[in-house]
Formats: sequence, C-alpha cells, structure tokens
Amino acid sequence: MFTPDMLESIKKVEATRAARMGMEPRRMTAEEKDELLKAYHPDYRAEGFKEIKIGPNKGQKAPVELTDLLHSNSRLLGADIDLSKIDYDVDVLVIGGGGAGSSAAIEAHEAGANVMMVTKLRIGDANTMMAEGGIQAADKPNDSPVQHYLDAFGGGHFAARPELLRRLVMEAPDAIQWLNELGVMFDKDAEGNMVTTHGGGTSRKRMHACKDYSGAEIMRTLRDEVINRGIPVVEFTSAVELLKDEKGQVAGAVLLNMETDDYSVARAKTVIIATGGAGRLHYQNFPTSNHYGATADGLILGYRAGAPLLYQDTIQYHPTGVAYPSQIFGALVTEKVRSLGAMLVNCEGEAFMHPLETRDVSAASIIRECSTRGKGVTTPLGSGVWLDTPMIEMIGGEGTIERRIPAMLRMYLNYGIDMRKQPILIYPTLHYQNGGLEIGGEGFTKTIPNLLVAGEAVGGIHGRNRLMGNSLLDIIVFGRNAGKAAAAKAKEVTLGTPGLKHVDDYAKMLSKAGIEQQGVSPLLLPQYARHER
Ligand code: FUM
Repeated sequence: MFTPDMLESIKKVEATRAARMGMEPRRMTAEEKDELLKAYHPDYRAEGFKEIKIGPNKGQKAPVELTDLLHSNSRLLGADIDLSKIDYDVDVLVIGGGGAGSSAAIEAHEAGANVMMVTKLRIGDANTMMAEGGIQAADKPNDSPVQHYLDAFGGGHFAARPELLRRLVMEAPDAIQWLNELGVMFDKDAEGNMVTTHGGGTSRKRMHACKDYSGAEIMRTLRDEVINRGIPVVEFTSAVELLKDEKGQVAGAVLLNMETDDYSVARAKTVIIATGGAGRLHYQNFPTSNHYGATADGLILGYRAGAPLLYQDTIQYHPTGVAYPSQIFGALVTEKVRSLGAMLVNCEGEAFMHPLETRDVSAASIIRECSTRGKGVTTPLGSGVWLDTPMIEMIGGEGTIERRIPAMLRMYLNYGIDMRKQPILIYPTLHYQNGGLEIGGEGFTKTIPNLLVAGEAVGGIHGRNRLMGNSLLDIIVFGRNAGKAAAAKAKEVTLGTPGLKHVDDYAKMLSKAGIEQQGVSPLLLPQYARHER
C-alpha cells in the first residue's frame, strides 16, 4: 500500500531500528522548546488569526474562522418566533450530547432536577466518542494530585486557572471510581488493578484506558445511564440562541429542529453549555480528528449573550494525525502508540525528538522536520514523518499491538498496512480547543447568572496546552460538577420573561463596528455539509 518512495524510506527506518531500540532521545530544554514553538507552532502564525472587534474580548485575537463566526449575525434576526409559547419547561437545560453534557445530565437528575438534554446530532455524537488513549487520574501509591497538577500546569505553560486545575486533579480519582462503578470496562491486570501508562508530559504512569477506544467506552456507559434514567434527550435539535430575562439571567434557549427547520422554545432556570470543540472549522486548513459536529457553537451562543472567552487564541494540534493513506487523512493516531514505545523518525530513519514531549512541542517539531529541515516523507496530501510502530512489538512482545491498540491496528489493516510490521506516516491534526468560555470553579460563567459551561467549551482548565487524558477527565469532573451546581441553583431561581434583546443588541454592535457579515452563526454543521431535504 505504500508508494515506492515510501518503501525506500522504510528501509532506512528498518536499518536504524536496532540501534534506536536501546536509546532514549534527549528531552529539549525550556529555551529550545520556546524557540521551536515560536518558529513552527501554528498558534504563532499571524495569518491564522484576526482581531475580535466587538463583545467582551474586543481587541483580542482569535482564529480567523472563529472570529468570522463571532462577527456573524444570529440566525434569529428577522425570524418569527413566539417566545410566549413554551415548548419545554425545565430546571436544567443541557446543550450538547457528549461526555460533559451526559455527566451533567446524570448528576442533575441524581439531584432531583427536571433536566433535559438537547443535541444537534445524536447523544454520543461528540469528541468524547472519538477519544482514544485514556483518562488521567493520580490514584496509584507512587503518584498524587499534586504531581498531576505540576505536570499539567507546566505542560499548559503555567497559564491554567489554578482553581480549575486544582479541581481537575483533586477530583480525578473519584471520577475514575464513578466511571468504574457505572460500568466502564477499564484495562485491568489479573489482580483487578487498573493498567496505567505515560502520556506526553506526565511524570507518572496515570493514564487509565479502555484499550484505544477509551472515549467510546466511556460514552457508551454514560449514554446508557442517561437513557436508563429516562432523562429526556431531544436529538437532531440545535440550540441556536440563548434566552435571557429582563434581569439578565439566562432563561433557556431557542431550538432549531435540524430535520424540519422548525423553531421551539425551551425555558430553563439554569443552562449548561456542553457543546464541545471546533475542529470542523479547520483552522489554518488543518485536517481534524474531531467529530462532524465540532463547530464551536457554544462559544458563539455564550459570547453573543455576553460571556467572555479565555485563551481562544490557543489551539491544540495533535502531533500524530494520519498523514497517509489519504482516505483517513487527519484521523487520530493515539498518543498511546508512543506511550507503548513507538519512536518518531524522519525520512532518513533518524529519531529527531523524544516521543513523549508535550503535544505543542511535538507538533512543532514534526512540522519543522517536514518543512525547513526537509526530512519529511512526501505523501499525496503533503508530507509526514514515521511513527515506528514495530518497536512496540519488540518492546512489549508479540501481540502487544493487537492487545493494547486494536482499533489502530484495524484502521490501518483496512488499507493494507500492518503496523506491527511497518511504520506508519503521521502529521499534526487539529484536535482540541485549549480556550473557550471563562468559568469559575463551580462551572458558572462570570457574567451571565445561571449559565454554566462544561467540557471542551470551557477555557482555562488546561492553560495554553493540554496533556493527553486530561480532556476525558475534565468532561467528567466539570460535567458532574455543573450538573450538581445547576440543579442546586435551579431551586432558588425565579425567572422573568425569556427574551432575545441581547441578540438585537449584538446586531447593533456589529453594525456600529462597521462589520459586514454575510453568514450566520452558530454554524451547526461544517461548511462542506450537504443540506438536502
Ligand atoms: O492521543 C490520544 O489518544 C488523545 C487523547 C487526548 O486528547 O486526551
């Protein structure tokens, strides 16, 4: 399945493999990392960003595609919606059907709230489902939440909001236990102990996994729990605008049926935005590992209603997306492949970096290898470097790949590539938005009463770069907390009349700033979606 040129390069990888087996490439110094990031990480490419001209983050930069959506008008301008006709009336409205939304819904329900989930696709169509490598928690005797905090704080360039990161690491062991008790089939040894591995930037083995489909297994379990509890889930229905009352409190959302284009009104005492990421905006033309619905909708809803963003200018490019074959371009090759021993190797068979540097550093290093250093392997869609997967079998023994990363093995076998015998070609892929809506420790936005955010739509938990396995963790920790907090808050909320004045005000701001926009936002589906009825 490889081209003749690729096969020539593979010979060089094979020729250096035995010598590389015993060696551990040197870690970069802090200065080297800084220099590398500034020169090669896409976050530093000025042309990828644009200034936000209105709203709470006016004057700051965001990716061009996100800024354009923030500069777009509401779908509801001019729409004829009767806000006095309430279609759904609940205590807690959860927007988003992924891991954070499901965890929130379960805990709100557990607390006795009348909770409803609305999701533009189906429950489980989310980045949670796509997550592979695992979930971090410091629950082994040689580890501690403090150690976890230090790893994540350093990996995130010391920019994480301490009150959020503290919660993340302190509540991690309980999150694992909760999932385990709900029925998640974690990898365990013969004695029933969790099997844990390293990820990039971790000083202890604290990655708990379900082979290489950890997110799918977690999502399966959460979805079953939501359904078993009888929590109402309104699928194929998007929240297109938040509602606010005359006191400025969030009061629900206007919903759009994706199949019929009909609008409906959900009144809610508290609202949790759990809409996930933005990979399908394809910042800087990168492919993505994200699910089809990852279009930053929650950021738009929250921002238009007046909630500030934090670190919206920092994006995670997963170092190892598929570079070849083209049919699966950009799909995730889990970091666990490197945790199990595969090295990153250039076209000459040289190991050019330590395989478990943090993600931003690894991505920048691969981009440098393929660009100025000219050591990439040419592919039909660009270039890539080798991930020397046969090393995994040499280190862990025959059968390790099939046992530990069976989904990877199957994905490549579908295209005639046996990663047990041949290396695979990778290049960075758009994976995660480090930034999002700003929250306090309890999950509430700081400016809109009773509006909470959980999961990838939050900014500040991880700082300016996230470590592997801390996202599956944050959706559980912050999802659960948001559900509990929203349910408690709903008991004391007295709602006024739900309205859309903020949407009109936003339109006026756009026009006053002289911003000419053609499109509407939130986007809901990628630009290349086919709209057939
Ligand atoms: O590489 C991975 O399996 C991805 C994990 C993550 O983003 O946390």
